[in-house]
Amino acid sequence: MSDHPARAAITLDGEPRTVPAGRSLAAALLAIGAPVTRHDRAGRPRAPYCGMGVCFDCAVTVDGAPLIRSCQEPVRDGMNVVTTGVALTVVDSSTVNSTVVNSTTVDTTGEVAP
Ligand code: FES
Repeated sequence: MSDHPARAAITLDGEPRTVPAGRSLAAALLAIGAPVTRHDRAGRPRAPYCGMGVCFDCAVTVDGAPLIRSCQEPVRDGMNVVTTGVALTVVDSSTVNSTVVNSTTVDTTGEVAP
């Protein structure tokens, strides 16, 4: 018998959703037809790409923590997931060419560097 319930109840962008349990959050979101995890600075939608924690295209906010790679995060009952992207602010781009958010380097274009 599995230790995982067959389904997990999460909140996705403020809406209650039921997703398959026992897999990564990225896989669970793909399974319910919600592949877009964030948008780049040009507003283009991004979705999980590498599936192994390298590209950061699957970054979401989980329980208030930004830049969580959903492909590396097990889905769990009760998690609050926000996929609308992370607001990144560079105060002076002429003197700052990168900033670190939760140990993740983000360049001045707003792209997340692995
Ligand atoms: S899909 Fe590439 S880091 Fe998650």
